[in-house]
This record gives sequence, C-alpha cells and structure tokens, in this order.
Amino acid sequence: MRKIKVFAPATVANVACGYDIMGFAVDKPGDEVLAELTNETGVVISKITGDGRKLPLEPEKNTAGVAVQSFLNRIRADKGVRLEINKMMPLGSGLGSSAASAVAAVYAVNELFGKPLSKDELLPFTVEAESVACGSGHADNVAPALYGGFVIIKDYHPLKVISIPAPELYCAVLHPDVIIRTEDARSILRMDVQLKDVVTQCSNVAGLVSGLFLKDYELIRDSLHDVIVVPHRSKLIPGFFKAVEAAREAGALGASISGSGPSIFALCKTSQIAKDSGEAMKGIYQSMDIDCQLYISPINPDGPKIIE
Ligand code: HSE
Repeated sequence: MRKIKVFAPATVANVACGYDIMGFAVDKPGDEVLAELTNETGVVISKITGDGRKLPLEPEKNTAGVAVQSFLNRIRADKGVRLEINKMMPLGSGLGSSAASAVAAVYAVNELFGKPLSKDELLPFTVEAESVACGSGHADNVAPALYGGFVIIKDYHPLKVISIPAPELYCAVLHPDVIIRTEDARSILRMDVQLKDVVTQCSNVAGLVSGLFLKDYELIRDSLHDVIVVPHRSKLIPGFFKAVEAAREAGALGASISGSGPSIFALCKTSQIAKDSGEAMKGIYQSMDIDCQLYISPINPDGPKIIE
C-alpha cells in the first residue's frame, strides 16, 4: 500500500469537570488526512483544504507534520511521507481540530508502514504535536481522538491513559462564531484555587466517572458541573449560560464548554434529546445574531477510521 486516507474524530475535552484529564470522541465532525509514501525521507504537506489558508504547510509548525515526523524518527524510516489535510471542522473551536489532524495523520502513516506501533505508542507523538499547536501538551483531545469513547488521562509524566465504558449517549455541539485561542483560554485561568472548589470539583469528577461506569444517567446529570474553569472561560463566550440553560430545559443531562471553547456541548440520553438541545442552543445564538454551526452525533467508540 502506498496511499491511504484516514478520518479522525472531533473531541470534547474536559467534559465539564475534568479539566485536562477527561475527554470523549464524537462521530462528527472530524478531519481527513491522505498520506502517501515517498522515496525522499521526511514529511511534506502538499495541501491543506478547509482551513481558510490559516494553517502552516511547514511540517515543523503543523500538528500533523510534527506527529508524523516524530513517528518517522522513532521507526528510523528510510522513506518519507506526503500529506494532504482536509479540515472538516472550524479551527480554534474547542473541538480538538489540531488533535484530529495529528491523530488522522499518524494513524494513516503507521498503517502505510505496516503498523509497526500500537495506539499507545502513537499517543506521545500526538501530544507533542498539541504542544506545537496550542502551546500546551494536553492529551484530553488527542487521546479520545485516537482511542474513541471516553478517556481519562491518569498521568502526564509518564503518560497514562485509561479508556472507560459509558452508557449510550448522544452529543449536541454548538459552535458559535467567536474566536478563542486555546493559549488565551488557558492563560486566563487562575492558579489560586479555593479548597472548597477543589472538593466540589473532585466530587463531580468522581460522580461523572462512576455515573459512566454504572450507566447511571442521573448521576451523570448531577456531576456535569465545573466550578474552577468555566467561571473564567464563560466570560469569553457570549450567551454561554443561556445556552446551557436552554439545553438542560430541552432535556440534556448537562452542558458545558467543549475544551477551551467557544463550542458548547450537551450530553444527552437520546438522539432526539440531542437534536432538541442543539436546536435550543442554536436559538439562543440566532436571537443574538451570532452565526453558529450545530453538530449532533453519537459518541464515537473507535477513533480513527480508514476511509480509502
Ligand atoms: N484541556 C484543554 C483545555 C483542552 O481546556 O485547555 C483544549 O481543547
């Protein structure tokens, strides 16, 4: 095989209370990467579509390029790779756009070389790529994009990721047309956190993880709250609290900021509730004259998928 095309899914990082330690993958949107073996060593990114010419073609500045170059170094490849990246989701949206490209690229190239590495071995390349894209090597987008489903980052040094089970869940993701850079959304966070807030946050994380394991929707509903990050980041997202309330009123188990925003996700028991919650959130932004995109999707259980 000399050529392959892979899709990798968008992801919702943090899942309300799990800042930097929790994320899940959705079926759509996502990015596609076409990878082709070349006789010259190294990575060439020949084309990027869907990015409005905002992303760099230089591999060392591009998340997919960084991940693939690290992979090639690790396997001491005597061939190189040409990449074409098709961005199928908004950039800077809080949907793990840079993660999806890195995961799709490195997964595709691993296949081209005959699968020398496991997903666990590919993960560090994608985390390194996140550092280039966002200035921080958080793993809560790349890990769910690579493994699918719900993932917990138990440790960063060394990296330890745990996939956890979940009941049937659907997600509405509303992306309002507001630009937030992950770096900025991280730099506004406070370092001095109150102990009482830490206690509340820990109990929500414990409740959410237990709720997912126990398939207890009410426990999930009770736990989808954040008291440390959202109070600061919500200031960057007009209409945020109204949208969350509208989603809950439409039946969502809970709603919060997707990753570093501005997207807002609502987790729901059924596909119909996800549609209703999504439409309710959309209505809030329409009434504010802010353009938005809405995605309704089940949880993606598998991560990347070979499409050609
Ligand atoms: N955990 C990261 C953050 C995710 O919230 O900054 C960024 O998508």
